Amino acid sequence: MPSATDAAKTIPRNTIAVGDCIRTMNRWPAGSVDLIFADPPYNIGYKYDRYEDKRDDREYIDWTLQWIDACARLLKPTGSFYILIGDEYAAETRVHLKELERDRKLVFRNWIIWHYTFGQNCKLKFNRSHAHLFYCVGAAAFDKKITMSDPPFAFNRSEVAVPSARQTTYADARANPTGKLPDDTWYLRPQEVQAEGIERYFQPEEDTWYLSRLCGTFKERQGWHPCQLPEALLERIVKLSSHPGDLVFDPFVGSGTTLAVAARLGRDWLGCELSKEYAAKAKQRIKHVEKTGQTHQTTLNDKGIQRGKPKKKAEPHRSPHLRKKKRS
Ligand SMILES: C[S@@+](CC[C@H](N)C(=O)[O-])C[C@H]1O[C@@H](n2cnc3c(N)ncnc32)[C@H](O)[C@@H]1O
Repeated sequence: MPSATDAAKTIPRNTIAVGDCIRTMNRWPAGSVDLIFADPPYNIGYKYDRYEDKRDDREYIDWTLQWIDACARLLKPTGSFYILIGDEYAAETRVHLKELERDRKLVFRNWIIWHYTFGQNCKLKFNRSHAHLFYCVGAAAFDKKITMSDPPFAFNRSEVAVPSARQTTYADARANPTGKLPDDTWYLRPQEVQAEGIERYFQPEEDTWYLSRLCGTFKERQGWHPCQLPEALLERIVKLSSHPGDLVFDPFVGSGTTLAVAARLGRDWLGCELSKEYAAKAKQRIKHVEKTGQTHQTTLNDKGIQRGKPKKKAEPHRSPHLRKKKRS
């Protein structure tokens, strides 16, 4: 419940606050945003311009719990909250979400695995190809029964439903003609991508192209931030868990992917970013979206150099089985 002092404050819209997200969030009124997507630094030594991504373990965990609490406070009871996190701190994050559920602040819905390709190549262990995405909703889910017809949070099923195997493979008359909800391992294969109307780097015949991390040569890549997320990931979340006109918040804006997608889909947007430079460039990216409706802004890297196209089309990651089939 927002306090009387909270009620006197207002939350800004369509802007990025430069500075520490915890301090900023705690200045804003509780229960005021519809959707939060958080992709924090992972404490694995990424090179950001301001932030030092290698902190003492205990200090990093304490900080993580603090920003999660600040997000939980800011979320509307009918809102949704997603956290993307790597293996290193997924366990601590999940345990804290359990505590928030015990305190009736959030309700945990899914532990989603985003399976990506183009992860870092390892020499003496398996290459990592996944991140953890925790999906929670606000406290209204404690008070109201979760029903399909009127859930106590945004859940636009038709925006993200995908064709089921009953439809595509077995021609089963019992198939739901409106498809099925995606599984909790997110590949975003061509059928999912087409259902979402995204035309990016997937082609229908390349059905083992899963949602990749963004490589330096990808058109979508802004070129000045070390860990930009693919828009397709955010597109699914924003479409499912918010309505046009809702307020979408990202405490760690980075290159501005969440906010650019929110703007393109007609949502209001708000973010925090420690780096003044990243915030300014993310704003430019969002302005471009608002002006053109297109999110691909640049093919220039941060030195203003045109990025080259790959000389020949890269061989998609196909299973040997599919490769054989194609040749025959
Ligand atoms: C993993 S990146 C986010 C990338 C983003 N999802 C994208 O697609 O571009 C994390 C960002 O958090 C910012 N950051 C670090 N500490 C912060 C803090 N206390 N408050 C706000 N932003 C912070 C870093 O500067 C960095 O840009």
